[in-house]
Amino acid sequence: MANRLLEGKRGVIFGALNDMSIAWKVAERAVEEGAIITLSNTALAVRMGTTEALGKKLNAEIIPADATSVSDLENVFTKSQVLLGGKIDFVLHSIGMSPNVRKKKRYDDLDYNMLSSTLDISAISFHKMIQVAKKMDAIAQDGSIVALSYVAAQRTFFGYNDMADAKSLLESIARSFGYIYGREKGVRVNTISQSPTVTTAGSGVKGLDGLLDFSDKMSPLGNATAAECADYCIVMFSDLTKKVTMQNLFHDGGFSSMGMSLRAMNQYEKGMDEYIDEQGNVIYG
Ligand SMILES: NC(=O)c1ccc[n+]([C@@H]2O[C@H](COP(=O)([O-])OP(=O)(O)OC[C@H]3O[C@@H](n4cnc5c(N)ncnc54)[C@H](O)[C@@H]3O)[C@@H](O)[C@H]2O)c1
Repeated sequence: MANRLLEGKRGVIFGALNDMSIAWKVAERAVEEGAIITLSNTALAVRMGTTEALGKKLNAEIIPADATSVSDLENVFTKSQVLLGGKIDFVLHSIGMSPNVRKKKRYDDLDYNMLSSTLDISAISFHKMIQVAKKMDAIAQDGSIVALSYVAAQRTFFGYNDMADAKSLLESIARSFGYIYGREKGVRVNTISQSPTVTTAGSGVKGLDGLLDFSDKMSPLGNATAAECADYCIVMFSDLTKKVTMQNLFHDGGFSSMGMSLRAMNQYEKGMDEYIDEQGNVIYG
């Protein structure tokens, strides 16, 4: 259902890898709502993924960039302004990756070079993105910048590993930059904390199936889908939320305000066999 909420707006969307990606749904919704956009992802993701098909469908140019590279980001904002014909009204940071999670390193046995990469890719890239755009004065007055977070930034979740630390930093960057950019140019900076969602990045989380089910049973409205997350992003990019900034906005069916639900309690699983090592010790990391 299109309401033309983004009519005449220009956007840059980072992180659409395939049709499960949250960024993919946001890109589709943004265009449906009247925006013109560019897409960005790593050169490898563009080669391996299906981003090109999305670009064709939405008439959106793809500008490859490693979001940890300042010069790549400068290129994205320079080209996007030329291609879209003016300053950028909204930006989506939908980027996350942990080499420690990929290599199945436990939280109490992290590789610190990998931790640096996790933080750089999943959080500091958000700072770089905003700093680059601000220095170039690439964002329009009253623009809106959104990144995607997860509740593990604020409370401990089994298996989320060093991504929890990255998400904490991401949410903090939204507050710190939101103050500066808001004062100087009315630009909003927020994070949306989304329910667990089946995507390529989501599938890296240890025990995702159990987490999805638990989270769904705990949330009065059930888990929020990627398409529903896209709807929320559109509202945050629109002029309907001009005074919302420096917030971490939960989009999780009510999960973050719950303590225990009847459905989750009823489902309580007593066995931990899957998480016990050969010595009989429970693996918490
Ligand atoms: N899936 C979930 O359960 C869930 C829940 C809450 C928040 N999120 C967050 O949503 C965002 C999008 O993830 P998703 O679930 O749609 O998965 P996804 O795998 O579709 O998207 C992650 C994207 O990050 C990109 N990326 C990785 N390294 C990059 C780099 N160096 N530079 C630029 N891009 C890079 C990938 O190519 C991919 O497009 C992430 O921040 C993720 O943490 C996901």
